[in-house]
Amino acid sequence: MRVAAYERYGPPEVVAVAERPTPEPGAGEVRVRVHAASIGAADSAARSGTPWFARLAFGLRAPKRSVMGSDFAGIVDAIGPGVTRFAVGDRVFGATGVDAGGHAELLITPESSAIVALPAAVDMTDAAAICDGGLTALPFLRDGARVRPGMRVLVNGASGSVGAAAVQLAKHLGAEITAVCGPSHVELVRSLGADRVIDYTREDFTAARDAYDVIFDAVGKSTFRRCRRALSSGGTYLTTVPSWAIMLQQLTSKVGSRRAVIMFTGLRKDADKVPDLGELAALAASGAFRPPIEREVPLDDIAEGHRIVDTGHKAGSVVVRPVAADSRKAAS
Ligand SMILES: NC(=O)c1ccc[n+]([C@@H]2O[C@H](COP(=O)([O-])OP(=O)(O)OC[C@H]3O[C@@H](n4cnc5c(N)ncnc54)[C@H](OP(=O)(O)O)[C@@H]3O)[C@@H](O)[C@H]2O)c1
Repeated sequence: MRVAAYERYGPPEVVAVAERPTPEPGAGEVRVRVHAASIGAADSAARSGTPWFARLAFGLRAPKRSVMGSDFAGIVDAIGPGVTRFAVGDRVFGATGVDAGGHAELLITPESSAIVALPAAVDMTDAAAICDGGLTALPFLRDGARVRPGMRVLVNGASGSVGAAAVQLAKHLGAEITAVCGPSHVELVRSLGADRVIDYTREDFTAARDAYDVIFDAVGKSTFRRCRRALSSGGTYLTTVPSWAIMLQQLTSKVGSRRAVIMFTGLRKDADKVPDLGELAALAASGAFRPPIEREVPLDDIAEGHRIVDTGHKAGSVVVRPVAADSRKAAS
C-alpha cells in the first residue's frame, strides 16, 4: 500500500509517498480503505516538531510515528477475528488521535476506537472535515462553555476548521453568533450562519465591553487578559492553543466571575468521541453542519496540502484523498 511518510521533522517536503506492506487486521481490529483524511494543524505540528512541546507527544529527536493523519473516512475492507460492530463494505469515519496513520491507503484501527458508520448522505471529504473541526468545537462549546439558547457567542478564527465548525454548532445550540475573520473570508463566514461578522483588519473585537457570554478563540490569537472586559459577568473565554498564561489563568480565574478554559480534545477517550461523531454526522446529513473545504489533494501532492495548512489562512479543511479516483468510483 501507499502511504505519506516522514522520518525527520522539517518543512512540507519531508513528507513523501512510500510503499509499505499491506497491513492485516488483528483480533478486534478493522482495516479501512481511506478515501479522505484531513491534513490539519496537528499534522503541521507533528511534521515540523514545533512548537517545542509538540515533541513531547510526537517524539523528542525524531517522529515516533511515520504516517500522520487522524481524521479519516473510508470503507471497511477487512475485519479481524471477533469484530462485531462493522462488516466489510461499511462506510465509516472517525479519528485515530495520537495514533495517526490516516494519510495512507489502508488504516488499521480497533473497532472500539473512535469510528462510526457514515450516513449515505455525507460524502467522504465532508466526513473527514467533520472530525477535523467538529470533534474539537463541539466539546468546547457544549462542555467547556455550556452554550445555551440565546447566549452571545463570539468565535475568533471563524473561517478555520475549528472556527467554521464552532459557528455552525453554536448556531445549532441556539446562540447568537459574532464571527471574526480576515477580509477574504467574510462572505464565507456569513454563509455559515453568523449573525454578525467582524473583519479583524478593521475592528478589534476585544474593545467591546460586556458584549459576549462566550469568547471562543478557535485559533488562539488573543488572550484571556485582552478579552476579559469584552466578556459579560460570568462569561467564559475558551482557547484551543496552550500557553503558560492560559494554564495559570485556568486555575486562578475560577475565583473571579469570568472563566478561562482550555481543553485538549484529541486526548478525550474514544468512548466519548463515538457519540459526538454520531451527532456530527447526523447534523451533516441534515445540512445543519457543512464543513468548508479549502482544497482536496491526491496522496502524491501531500506536501502541497501541508504548505496550505502552514499558511495559517486556510478556509475550513485541507483533505488528502489516498485512494485514487478510479478505485473510489469502483468502490461506491
Ligand atoms: N486544544 C485542542 O484540543 C485543539 C484541537 C484542535 C485544534 N487545536 C488548535 O486550534 C487551532 C486552530 O485550528 P484550525 O484547524 O481551526 O486552524 P486553521 O484552520 O489553520 O485556522 C485558519 C484560520 O485562522 C484564521 N486566522 C488567522 N489569523 C487570524 C487572526 N489573527 N485572527 C483571527 N483569525 C485568524 C484564518 O482566517 P483569515 O484567513 O480570514 O485570516 C484562517 O481561516 C490550531 O492552533 C490547532 O493546533 C487545538
